Amino acid sequence: MAKRYRIGFVKGDGVGPEIIEAALEVLPHLELDVELVELEAGYRFYEMTGKVVEEGFFEEAKRLDAIIKGPLYTPSHDPSFKSVNVLIRRELDLYANVRPFKSFRGVSLKDFDFVIFRENTEGEYVGVEGMFGDIAVSLRFVSRRGSERISRLAFFYAKARGYKRVTAVHKANILKLSDGLFRQTFFNVAESFPEIVADEVIVDTAAYALVKNPEKFQVLVTPNLYGDILSDLAGGLLGSLGLCGSALIGDVVGVFEPVHGVAYDIAGKGVANPVGMLIALKLMLEYLGQRYGNLETLRKAEVLENSIRRVLEVRRVWTPDLGGQHGTRDVVAAVVEEVSDTLRQTR
Ligand code: NAI
Repeated sequence: MAKRYRIGFVKGDGVGPEIIEAALEVLPHLELDVELVELEAGYRFYEMTGKVVEEGFFEEAKRLDAIIKGPLYTPSHDPSFKSVNVLIRRELDLYANVRPFKSFRGVSLKDFDFVIFRENTEGEYVGVEGMFGDIAVSLRFVSRRGSERISRLAFFYAKARGYKRVTAVHKANILKLSDGLFRQTFFNVAESFPEIVADEVIVDTAAYALVKNPEKFQVLVTPNLYGDILSDLAGGLLGSLGLCGSALIGDVVGVFEPVHGVAYDIAGKGVANPVGMLIALKLMLEYLGQRYGNLETLRKAEVLENSIRRVLEVRRVWTPDLGGQHGTRDVVAAVVEEVSDTLRQTR
């Protein structure tokens, strides 16, 4: 009997509910046995209830097979409101933020296929800050364990997907101890993968080289903040932040979300690009397929990605961020058509 997946969804803030709705509309057409569970979290939820996540959120999250999630708002002007994203990542120990960037023909600025592995629980994001008179101090944590597990996952991924090179991104020339530890741990892990080339690039050079020659990169491993910044740069190369999806991986559960934020400027207008969320959905199917050894789920992930590619590259159903005039729902309808056609033909 096919595995029944228990999938959580968090609508989130801003464009979150629109794009989660898009994912939930596509999901049934992939013909998987899924039970959906809604989880509440985020700024909107906080304004309504005074809590940032619902009672029992983390216990339930740990019982699920995977979670899809819309973006959550963190106000910059309110120092007392701590990021709910960071809380979720820490509580579920989602140590790897995996972000594939594969160009779309006719949409992206250049041709490329690389994946950023961003360490997701340490660095500046531990949120340890203090004021000493007029000096604000923020601590940055880099551990051997944290650096090792993100590096190891990146090498395993490269090996499984046929990538030949893994590149560490750091600033160890200046941050001798913290990024020095990250760098050294990366090269220690690399010794267990002799068939893969391990190299390194300083983060500022990485920003330049990604714009100039993105095709030279395959898998990049970065501390938390560098990965965050380079991902948005990669989103620009891809053609829009609205096209990028990401997988947050831990040992207990995986969380899948678009790379972009709440996009309040376009929320509620029906024009948010749902592709980033749909790519996240595809990453979730890959995760479930691998976790449960289910080839059919892996095939559905491929069907979804190919459908998204046809909609963007061939049918050119584009939202305004890509220079098109279509709405969120037009993209969803086109993806549903493509998925249904493919599954009908291969039945
Ligand atoms: P943003 O990603 O929300 O928006 C940046 C630009 O990209 C805007 O012009 C927006 O309209 C556009 N954009 C983003 N998503 C789009 C989509 N699906 N379709 C079309 N255009 C899209 O970045 P911003 O404004 O810097 O961040 C706003 C808030 O989002 C921040 O306060 C932050 O707290 C939150 N955020 C949450 C994330 C998460 O939950 N994983 C990730 C990043 C930011």
